[in-house]
Amino acid sequence: MDFKVQSASFWSVHADARIVPRFEGQPDSGLPAKIQHALSDAKKRKLFEGKAGQVHDVDHAVFLGLGKKDDFAAPQFLRACGSSYSVLKRLGAKSVAVDVSHLPVECVDFAVQGLRDAAYRFDAFKKETPKDALEKVVLVCKHPDAPSALKRGLAVSDAVLWTRDVNNQPGNVATPAYMAEQAKKMARNAKLNVTVLDEKALQKKGFHALLSVGQGSVNPPRLVVLEYAGGSKKDPWIALVGKGITFDSGGISIKPSGDMDKMKYDKSGACAVLGAMSALSALNVKANVVAVVAFAENMPSGSSYRPGDIISSLSGKTIEVLNTDAEGRLVLADALHYVQSEYHPKRVVDLATLTGACCIALGEQFAGLFGNDEAWLKQLEAASKQSGDAVWRLPVAEFEDQIKGEFADVKNVGHPKGYAGASTAAAFLKQFASDSWAHVDIAGMAWNTSPKPYLSTGATGFGVRLLLAALLENPLKSTKPN
Ligand code: BES
Ligand code: ZN
Ligand code: ZN
Repeated sequence: MDFKVQSASFWSVHADARIVPRFEGQPDSGLPAKIQHALSDAKKRKLFEGKAGQVHDVDHAVFLGLGKKDDFAAPQFLRACGSSYSVLKRLGAKSVAVDVSHLPVECVDFAVQGLRDAAYRFDAFKKETPKDALEKVVLVCKHPDAPSALKRGLAVSDAVLWTRDVNNQPGNVATPAYMAEQAKKMARNAKLNVTVLDEKALQKKGFHALLSVGQGSVNPPRLVVLEYAGGSKKDPWIALVGKGITFDSGGISIKPSGDMDKMKYDKSGACAVLGAMSALSALNVKANVVAVVAFAENMPSGSSYRPGDIISSLSGKTIEVLNTDAEGRLVLADALHYVQSEYHPKRVVDLATLTGACCIALGEQFAGLFGNDEAWLKQLEAASKQSGDAVWRLPVAEFEDQIKGEFADVKNVGHPKGYAGASTAAAFLKQFASDSWAHVDIAGMAWNTSPKPYLSTGATGFGVRLLLAALLENPLKSTKPN
């Protein structure tokens, strides 16, 4: 799909189809007579009223409902545009013009992301992969920042699609070693420094928690460290940390088989962190960013770690393993400690599909946001608003008592009935974190179980946009309509 910005008048642009965004209650003026007539007819018949999420097409014009103008923010345009994709497909349009002329300039960026997100399918293993017709997208916008918004949309979207693609790889392909190879390949293209610690190096350095999780699998763990030095030498590091369980069977505390296949997505946090790193150079981010992602496979076997085991960790703290299915926090404990002791970052954020409890609390609506530094949390909340990757704040500190160990320093589960499981998991991480740490539990957001009009089934790439928005020094600020 090729994208270009054009500053011509929308209705004069030549295209097979047009995307016409409309607010609720917007007067039907300034439109060609035929379109105006179609629109008021659709309104009369209550087929299209401009409500958020509505899509209605008449004669190759696709009306997109954006809701009330005062409630609209630019990130909503991502899903709105994505939702039009299936209509464009049905129409067989090879080219489409999108009217961004009356919307905030960031909508150029979100239109690109929405259409590319909607077009993506994971079909690497399919013999027949029919090609979609849409080849050319013309974004009509006169704003002087439109070309840079387009560039940004393409760079962010590249990162999201890379993340979805690598995360969609199944457990038999995407072993920890495979993931480390993908990270290396990506690092070469994205001008990043990369180091991979294999099981020998991990043993030598004392990554006991990460190694314990992986010890039941024939595919040993890997730790990937990526550096991007976009700031000045004096600038401190910002650290991104990711949970990369390439398959989570639960280990000896084995999971029910029902949805176990979905646990190939238990590497989503790591994939999102890697994906965000892949775009830093293209986006010219002015910061020094280090990423540490821990990959392991959690399997039951004669060599697995067991419930009741007391293990050590890189930090020296001992951990009582009450449930081998609470493995994410163990690999993160070592990754968090490593990045702190090696880089002394000013801020740390980790992304993880950490708890089923977070899905129960926040569904597929929000990721859980936890942390110990109000300023950093506020920055991430602002990044969430700017990027559309939705987060909701949940408490941590009040739950620290619940993860105190009986026979070791800490234990890896909280309340025996699983009460506040997302918060007790975060409280565990906090024991290994520094003073400015945030944790994003993306368990409910990382994959789709059924196709949505704007996103196919599988990995969503959640978190990439959030991290990039948090790292960008000068994101295009205004998200309100002109
Ligand atoms: N990877 C899972 C969390 C998960 C579950 C993510 C379902 C997405 C959907 C994690 O490793 C896990 O199994 N957590 C346990 C913790 C419990 C044993 C304390 C959980 O959430 O049940
Ligand atoms: Zn688990
Ligand atoms: Zn897990």
